[in-house]
Amino acid sequence: MLEGPAGRPLVGKKVLVTAGPTAEPLDPVRLLTNRSSGRQGFAIAASLAALGAEVTLVAGPVSLPTPPGVKRVDVESAREMLAASQAALPVDAAVCVAAVADWRPDEAFGVKLKKGKDGPPQLRLVENPDILATLAVDNPQRPRLVVGFAAETNDVLEHARAKLARKGCDWIIANDVTEPGVMGGSENAVMLVTKTGVERWEREAKESVGAKLAARIAEALIQS
Ligand code: CTP
Ligand code: CA
Repeated sequence: MLEGPAGRPLVGKKVLVTAGPTAEPLDPVRLLTNRSSGRQGFAIAASLAALGAEVTLVAGPVSLPTPPGVKRVDVESAREMLAASQAALPVDAAVCVAAVADWRPDEAFGVKLKKGKDGPPQLRLVENPDILATLAVDNPQRPRLVVGFAAETNDVLEHARAKLARKGCDWIIANDVTEPGVMGGSENAVMLVTKTGVERWEREAKESVGAKLAARIAEALIQS
C-alpha cells in the first residue's frame, strides 16, 4: 500500500465530513434549524487535511472559515446535504458531524406567509433523510469507515450504542451536550463507541478532539 510521507499518512485517501446545522425552509424568510456552530466538524476536517487526506466538507449554514486544503460544499437543507454527500462518493471514510434537522415543513411556500385573522399556520412536518444511515448501507460504494456523532442529554452511552446499531455505522462519537461550554463552546468531552468497546476521552479543545479522531481514522484506514 502507498503511504504518505511521515506525518501525512492519509495522502491518497478521500474523506467526507458533514458539519454544521441544516436549515429547512418554511417560506423565503423562515427556517426550521438546529443548534450547531460547526466547530467540531470543521476541526475534524482540518485535522484530516493536515494528515494529507483529500477532504470534502459538506457544510450547513455556519460562519466559519474553510480549513486550509479542504474542499467545501455549502448546503442548506438535509436533502441538499445528502445530495452533496453522495456526489462526493466514493470515499475511504465518512464522518457525519452535522446536526441535521430531523424534520422539515412538508411544504416550503414560495411567497412569505402573512399574519392574519386565521392565526398561526398549523405546520405539518415530514422526516428528513438520514445521511449517516444512507452512507452506511452495505453496498459497493460504502466507505470503509463510517463514523457518526451522537449528541445526547441523558443516558449517553446507552443511546450511543443503540445509534451505532441502528445506523449501521462503525463508530459513534458520543457527547453529553448538557456539559457546560460544549454546545457552541470551544471544548468537547466525548466517548468513542465501537462495536468492541468504549473509550472515554478527556475533555479538551475541539481542535484536539479533531486531531485525535483524525489520527484514529488514519490508523484504521492504513490497517484495513
Ligand atoms: N444524522 C444524519 N442525518 C439525519 C440525522 C442524523 O446524518 N437526518 C447523523 C448525524 O450527523 C450524527 C448521527 O446521525 O452523526 C446521529 O444524529 P442524532 O441526531 O443524534 O440521531 P438521530 O438518529 O436523529 O436520533 P435522535 O435525534 O432522535 O436522537
Ligand atoms: Ca436527530
